[in-house]
Amino acid sequence: MLVVIEQDYGALSREAARIAANALRQKPDLVLGLATGSTPVGFYRELAKLHREQGLDFSRVVTFNLDEYIGLDSSHPHSFHVFMQENFFRHVNVKPENIHIPDGTIRGDFDEYCEGYERSIRDAGGIDLQILGIGKDGHIGFNEPTSSLASRTRPKTLTRETLEANRSHFGKEERQPRAAITMGIGTILDAKKILLLGSGAEKARAVALAVEGPITASVSASALQLHRDATVLVDREAAVGLKHREYYETVVAMTRELTPERLW
Ligand code: F6R
Repeated sequence: MLVVIEQDYGALSREAARIAANALRQKPDLVLGLATGSTPVGFYRELAKLHREQGLDFSRVVTFNLDEYIGLDSSHPHSFHVFMQENFFRHVNVKPENIHIPDGTIRGDFDEYCEGYERSIRDAGGIDLQILGIGKDGHIGFNEPTSSLASRTRPKTLTRETLEANRSHFGKEERQPRAAITMGIGTILDAKKILLLGSGAEKARAVALAVEGPITASVSASALQLHRDATVLVDREAAVGLKHREYYETVVAMTRELTPERLW
């Protein structure tokens, strides 16, 4: 696991966009795994800027989002479908037919639907670069604590902590969905490269547990320790709980010198 510590949220967003843009320049038909939430908003803004100012081309990119709330249709203002349109897709030239986001309106045969989602990822050649945020409880996607490290795409009930963290997105009178369809930890680990973004002091504990704690189903993000090409990109605030900060900075400096392609 490579740990990269940036000064602040702006620098983190620019670095994440630089990594994704380089991957895209090397492979124009890149398969991108995408996350929602507040953390990747700056990353999406930076990618949109690269598209606008430097013509970064998304016309052959295929995207797969991690998750969607069960019960919200794709036009619901709080759906991840709308979030992605507003924050990213409408600012770049991704083709609508290349966009995949779990369908929150599925009823009944979830297994068949979720297997189909997994199949579409496989048929696209697998995810080249998976972008992740991290929950305060260490979740990735909506894989809440105790999710199997081998889990695949499936419906998942959200914890009280996650519901509270996302409560402000919903109006006072609005019913907040209590479950989501999410890619599993096993699905995420199949990605060729993983980039987890963590920003702000409220993520410091989860980041420290994910990077330096034991690999455990109690902290889903700790499963990334099993991945051969996972980068954890955090700002200073999110890094305060890390014991080996100085070492990570040395590793990054050395990597920049000896094997810069590892950092894309
Ligand atoms: C969203 C997702 C979640 C978020 C996590 C952090 O697609 O998969 O795991 O990344 O809840 O959310 P923020 O960035 O809002 O703190």
